[in-house]
Amino acid sequence: MTAAPVFDKGLANTIAAETQASFIDGAKGVLEYVGYDIDSLARNSTFEETVFLLWNRRLPNAAELATLAAELRAEYDLPEAVWQMIRDTPRTAHPMHMLRTLVSSLGMFDREADDNSPEANWRKSVRLLAKTPTIVANFDRHRKGKPLVRPDATMDMATNFLNMLNGARPTVAVAKALDVCLILHADHGLNASTFAARVTISTLSDMYSAITTAIGTLKGPLHGGANEEVMHMLNEIGTMDNVEPYIKERLARKDRIMGFGHRVYKAYDPRAGYLKTFAKQIATDTGNQGLYEMSTKIEDIMKAEVAAKGIYPNVDFFSATTYHSIGIDLDIFTCMFAISRISGWTAHCMEQLAANRLIRPMAEYTGPHGLSYVVMSAR
Ligand code: ACO
Repeated sequence: MTAAPVFDKGLANTIAAETQASFIDGAKGVLEYVGYDIDSLARNSTFEETVFLLWNRRLPNAAELATLAAELRAEYDLPEAVWQMIRDTPRTAHPMHMLRTLVSSLGMFDREADDNSPEANWRKSVRLLAKTPTIVANFDRHRKGKPLVRPDATMDMATNFLNMLNGARPTVAVAKALDVCLILHADHGLNASTFAARVTISTLSDMYSAITTAIGTLKGPLHGGANEEVMHMLNEIGTMDNVEPYIKERLARKDRIMGFGHRVYKAYDPRAGYLKTFAKQIATDTGNQGLYEMSTKIEDIMKAEVAAKGIYPNVDFFSATTYHSIGIDLDIFTCMFAISRISGWTAHCMEQLAANRLIRPMAEYTGPHGLSYVVMSAR
């Protein structure tokens, strides 16, 4: 028997899927991927190993990890037509519009695009994850008038991305910083973009459509787009002296401070806690201490003003300082989130298909009834 429907605005109290990918305890500030605490993964794992964990629900042995790494590296390159699309993309396009469009285009070049067997969906997950960094890094080069750089299959994902972006191999420390960011953003329960991906795949559409849907959803400033907004805010504040008046004035106007608050966490977002320590180190190493200090001052003011409401920094707040310190342009920040989260989106799509039921909630109709149609000439 179906239970009576309940109206739940924003679906905040609705459990709409079962998952074994990640667990969140918002009150205690806990995040686990398949039972492993995010902090221990950030300290000990690599992005590739985390991907294996999310896709297989267990850690790999050395041979299994090497196989996945080799599969990914074999798929770094793009179809020639997609290289050409990068060259044809307007240089002024926002990177997230570009990413949504070019990831969608990949489906046209994949003969397996509409094969929803588990084996084909695994291969497509590998392709989506492997090719997205190549698209992002080379679009950034294209818009700056620099020659495109082909991926290098001898490098891991983080190193290869930065090598393409900058045309030079990054230091081990900088590649490690990016690798940790990729681990921290890989999965997060049924967040808005993951839900969007699961809705799309639940119609038995295809992986490319599901990931395109997810990218469009991630883009919004209430979700993944917040990291870009944090950097805009830091730039707008400009000096330490301006932090307090800026934040207090915004709060008085009931504006949202980007990078704070979370639908699920009412305690410190554990990813933000880890990123804070990390941002301090990388900002110091790269001469961006000012940015880090401004961020901690914002945090102190927010703590005094709104922590009682359960509003703390979220993952986007300190990732802005970290990405900036790594040398990534601010309008690429949300693409970095997408590069990582494709691992979680694809994990959820495969999980959804393994026990699929069409996701189709209801709406409460609040409009009029029984109106008489009036012909155009009489209106
Ligand atoms: N700054 C100031 N006040 C805030 C903030 C914020 N960032 N976030 C929430 N509040 C306040 C609200 O004004 C509201 O106050 P009130 O009860 O006095 O009216 C209260 O906290 C509850 O807010 P809701 O809107 O009900 O919280 P909700 O769960 O719907 O929103 C969201 C969560 C969208 C993340 C929100 O906190 C926000 O807009 N944050 C800024 C954007 C951001 O950083 N997004 C990234 C989230 S993490 C991620 O997606 C990766």
